[in-house]
Amino acid sequence: MPENSDSPPRSSHSPTRRQVLAGAGGTGLLAATASPARAATRARRIRAGSSDGTPEQIHLTWSENPATGVVVSWASPGQARRPRVRIGQRVIPAEPRPYTDGISGETVWTYHARVGGLRPGATYAYAATADNDRNAADPFSATFRTAPAGRAPFRFTSFGDLATPNTAWVLSYGQSAYAVEAVESFQPLFHLLNGDLCYANLNPTAQPEVWRDFGNNNQTSAGSRPWMPCLGNHEVEFYNGPQGFASYLARYTLPENRMPGFAGRWYSFRVGSVLFVSLDADDVVYQDAAAFVAGPAALVPASGTGHPAIGPGTSFYLRGYSDGAQTAWLERTLAAGRRDETVDWIIVQMHQCAASSSSTGNGSDLGIRQEWLPLFDRYQVDLVLCGHDHDYERSFPLRGADTDAGHEVATGAVVNTMRPHPVTTTDSGVFDTRHGTVHLILGCGGTDAPLDEYGTDTADGSLFPGGSPPRTPPRQAKVFTRADRPVQSSTPGVFTRAAADAVEDAIWSARRDTVTGYGIAVFDVDPGHGSDGQPSIKVTHYHAVGADPVNPATGAKGEPTPDYTEFETFTLVRPR
Ligand SMILES: [Fe+2]
Repeated sequence: MPENSDSPPRSSHSPTRRQVLAGAGGTGLLAATASPARAATRARRIRAGSSDGTPEQIHLTWSENPATGVVVSWASPGQARRPRVRIGQRVIPAEPRPYTDGISGETVWTYHARVGGLRPGATYAYAATADNDRNAADPFSATFRTAPAGRAPFRFTSFGDLATPNTAWVLSYGQSAYAVEAVESFQPLFHLLNGDLCYANLNPTAQPEVWRDFGNNNQTSAGSRPWMPCLGNHEVEFYNGPQGFASYLARYTLPENRMPGFAGRWYSFRVGSVLFVSLDADDVVYQDAAAFVAGPAALVPASGTGHPAIGPGTSFYLRGYSDGAQTAWLERTLAAGRRDETVDWIIVQMHQCAASSSSTGNGSDLGIRQEWLPLFDRYQVDLVLCGHDHDYERSFPLRGADTDAGHEVATGAVVNTMRPHPVTTTDSGVFDTRHGTVHLILGCGGTDAPLDEYGTDTADGSLFPGGSPPRTPPRQAKVFTRADRPVQSSTPGVFTRAAADAVEDAIWSARRDTVTGYGIAVFDVDPGHGSDGQPSIKVTHYHAVGADPVNPATGAKGEPTPDYTEFETFTLVRPR
């Protein structure tokens, strides 16, 4: 039976992918301990690197105002002396933000240089270095571009669920490197990375090493244009802060949300006439999909950490961690955005999904529908970009909810999944988002576990009213309406987390990519010209055909590919 995790385990007997996916969710950490040889290598590297301040994992994020500032962030193998950025004649000291991983005990050195006072729409060259930079004579350097001022055209790109190209790590896959190259090939102003960055928490004894492979893979693009992330379930790590986000928060400097105790968890920024709102759905989803010890072995932190072992059946469940603070912030932010006449579009980024019909993935979550979709309706959010399910799916424009449209999996009883209501089921290719919000699932970055298999309701051929053209068989989505906390499995000492507890006919699903679970979405924002010009966003999804290790529809075996070709294009319009 498919289960809820987007984090299938590896096991020692080399299961087929189908077996891996069928067993997903229950045993995410079962086989995820690093080998003694790898641990020894790491220890040697830590000792050798203790005096090495060479910048690596270099990446940019937007400052509070993307037209005038960026933040340059990096890590170094050891503590850096006088870490700094040079830009033109300016030398900007970088602030250290080290943390000690709660499981390995390894200290990670990260640095952040805030570069402000820049001109809008301008290109700058910079270099990052330190006194103990091995490359001090020729330090890392790159160029970036600031955001334009006012209503101006620009391009951004997006995907989530990237992982790393180092296949030693659970869920990592070679496509991850091609995905970064794909971003560069489209030369966006910036990229949105929709959570589940590298799956370090599935490799719990080697988390800093996984982050390092991730950061060095991304540097190819993220050193030259901001990559703006959001938190996913795999950023949650045991013994790394109150929500387990210490690794993420040490690596990223994100725009201020002015919420004491919650810095970096959620934020917003403006580029041109678009307000981008980045959320942490870990705070509202019912599903339990974060750090988890399945057993039978406990997860034992390094002795130097002083942390006790984490027993089988333990999960790190975050629903409600902000006690409503994030939702209150969201409402204030959306209301201010819609009051602002210089804002045309509101685009939300989050990891988990309100409207996904992947059958091998997680599916949809009632928590997002209860907490946030009514706000997206009230303030006419135009577009929601997610990850989590490793595929591509697009919804019709959605507004409001159909009650009592779901059924409990176990009993068949009617359950209110608050099914999002499509304002049209005509797939015209042009959508006026004043009338409904379009959701995109973009968990198509680079993991080794594509989830491009989708639900159908074979028992019911009539529950798809008004479709044009009619679709058969009707589409079905799984929906979490309650927490799937760990339960004992049939194997003694091994715990599992159940799949979503409800299903519904997914009348909101407009397009699903069954060819491949890999791709990148490219967004071209056109503010319109003149007083009657119509703002539009042209969205093109490019996909990596043949990258599925095994395509679920055809059984065809594939491998990582650098070739991204067009899957579909559509246009969002918002007449002023
Ligand atoms: Fe996820």
